[in-house]
Amino acid sequence: MPGSSTVLVTGGAGFIGSHTCVELLDHGHDVVIVDNYSNSSPGAVERIAKVAGRAPVAVYEADLLDRRALAAVFADHSFDAVIHFAARKAVGESVEQPVEYYDTNVGGTTALLRAMHDHGVHRLVFSSSCSVYGNADKVPLTEGDPADPTNPYATSKWLCEQIVADVCRRLPGFSALALRYFNPVGAHPSGLLGEVPRGVPNNVMPYLAQVAAGRLDRLRVFGDDHATPDGTGVRDYLHVMDVAEGHRVALEHLDDTRGMTVFNLGTGRGTSVLELVAAFRRACGKPIPYEITGRRPGDVAALVADPTAVTRAWNWTATRDLTAMAEDAWRFQELNPSGYPD
Ligand code: UFG
Repeated sequence: MPGSSTVLVTGGAGFIGSHTCVELLDHGHDVVIVDNYSNSSPGAVERIAKVAGRAPVAVYEADLLDRRALAAVFADHSFDAVIHFAARKAVGESVEQPVEYYDTNVGGTTALLRAMHDHGVHRLVFSSSCSVYGNADKVPLTEGDPADPTNPYATSKWLCEQIVADVCRRLPGFSALALRYFNPVGAHPSGLLGEVPRGVPNNVMPYLAQVAAGRLDRLRVFGDDHATPDGTGVRDYLHVMDVAEGHRVALEHLDDTRGMTVFNLGTGRGTSVLELVAAFRRACGKPIPYEITGRRPGDVAALVADPTAVTRAWNWTATRDLTAMAEDAWRFQELNPSGYPD
């Protein structure tokens, strides 16, 4: 899709959504955000405008399951494409609350497809996850490796992929890209945009940032008996700025093929929890207290992307290294100790 376009970004105030909005605005696209602020805040939208130097065309506080509100958004604008981030994303919570996860993630996606179809919008970039691979027994993972989701969050993403792919198969006007990202971390280098989890962070990078800031006393490293070089979990961390660029590039390639295409977004490099702790210690210049505890239920030993397909298709590759991820995450933590102002 060459030239500028008008893009609906669901979940645009969230961690990856906000960085993607800046990337789109920086490249001349117009952005409309829909967000229910269940795990984000209007403060992020103000920061998007500040970083990009211009604001989204419109911002709606609405839930995708509110079909009337969603139809009104589509009636107000003429969208060229939709980037769909809005979802619940905590693995552990999904095990406790499967109905909420299927309702929000699958129901939100079908409600969005309904509105898109009703309003003649047929291009979608869907936010999927490497968690669909589940307990993969090999690294790195290619898109052709079997899916085996092991929790309701991952299953919801897998189901959404199936639904979107089937819609694209049956309605040839539809085209979609499903991006399975590995572990997005880091923050905008300005220190103005970053990850603002509600409550105690689930994910390791924001947790590390809060330990370094003295808000949490130590990191609990979930197991040192995994089948990995140092026994701690290995993940393919990638900078959120690279993820945001990946979405902008995806938008520009939405018309390359018919139907739905799946791509991994990752670096192809695995990093253990202890290596991540060391990188963060270098970035912040402080010791990071940690203790080894038992494994977290549902955790897998190693998840690393083979990003060959996306590089071949779009010449996209993650360019930022672990040092940049840690330094940028720490800068955001230091400048915004309590997240965004309300
Ligand atoms: N970890 C710790 N201590 C913590 C938190 C995590 O040792 O306090 C370890 C985990 O055991 C794992 C690694 O750090 O080995 C990464 O854990 P995260 O929780 O940061 O990330 P996950 O790989 O479990 O999952 C995350 C998101 C999912 C998403 C997935 C892939 O939680 O939503 O990345 O994108 F699907």
